[in-house]
Amino acid sequence: MRSLTIARPDDWHIHLRDGAYLSTTVPDLARVFARAIIMPNLLPPIDQVQAAEAYRNQIIQAIPPGIRFEPLMTMYLTEQTSASTIVEAKKCGFVHAFKLYPAGATTNSNAGISAIKSLYPVFEEMQKQGMHLCIHGEVTNNEVDIFDREAAFIDESLLPITKDFPKLKIIFEHITTIESIDFVKEASNNVAATITVHHLLYNRNHMLAGGMKPLYYCLPILKRNKHQQALITAATSGSNKFFLGTDSAPHPRSAKENICGCAAGIYTAHAAIELYAEAFDLVNALDKLEGFSSFYGPDFYGLERNKDKITLTEESWQVPATLKFGEDILVPLRSEDHILWKVNNST
Ligand code: NCD
Ligand code: ZN
Repeated sequence: MRSLTIARPDDWHIHLRDGAYLSTTVPDLARVFARAIIMPNLLPPIDQVQAAEAYRNQIIQAIPPGIRFEPLMTMYLTEQTSASTIVEAKKCGFVHAFKLYPAGATTNSNAGISAIKSLYPVFEEMQKQGMHLCIHGEVTNNEVDIFDREAAFIDESLLPITKDFPKLKIIFEHITTIESIDFVKEASNNVAATITVHHLLYNRNHMLAGGMKPLYYCLPILKRNKHQQALITAATSGSNKFFLGTDSAPHPRSAKENICGCAAGIYTAHAAIELYAEAFDLVNALDKLEGFSSFYGPDFYGLERNKDKITLTEESWQVPATLKFGEDILVPLRSEDHILWKVNNST
């Protein structure tokens, strides 16, 4: 039986939701990951330091006893965010990034930004303070095809931002296309990207061919196979510009299997590192998993690498059909199907 020991990984993009949902999402995450960048797209959005602190406390309460886990908080950029909010966030010490959602781009993004240029004074302060910027990079214009929205965002917004704020540390999140990979490779070392495990393991055929499957619907939407292949190549290349961010995003089953509009988001926190191991193993690149999962993320965020380790063994197990999710249930990725790797210890 093959096994692999790596430094304990971190998840650089996850949605935990709040309230009763935390008793599912936090234990699943903290089972393996030591730290995670927590997305702020709650209702209402986490756009004040006080709200980030209260949310952080809720998350900490949900950590199972005996487990070391640190939530790295983010705050939501709105058109009201001011430079003084950035200063306050930097001072508190537990906010590690601000998140830019173009208004209407995804789940709970209505409070996001319509005119990115209006944020320039805020970006100026972030650059000065060394506060990281996480970007959901998709245009929202309905005339742009949903499969082209990420590529269009590069020309429309990302290139100008990186040109105007060369020292701002930017994470182009959950990238899904060849265009984004090329952009990140060519950009300065202040630009990096996260890659989800579902974009490594699946393409749009999984979602659309042979019957439409809401389980696979997420944003940015799954793309063609050639983009999936390019993402696998980038993630397993050993480049420190690409690192792990699951974008695990749970929704109740009723919100996913909804004929009037399936909620975007895939739940992977129950088996994230195991699924990444599968994806890397498929191209014989398990030796590249540790850098991607455990080194390049903390390096980019200016944090220490974790010193403790986890061990993955090649051992097939079956994912339950559903998981309890507050008063609801959710359908996890690989529901009733098998996963080929398992984590046995996490110290
Ligand atoms: C996320 C969610 O549900 O909050 N959904 C998703 O499809 N990834 C939001 C996001 O990251 O786009
Ligand atoms: Zn997300």
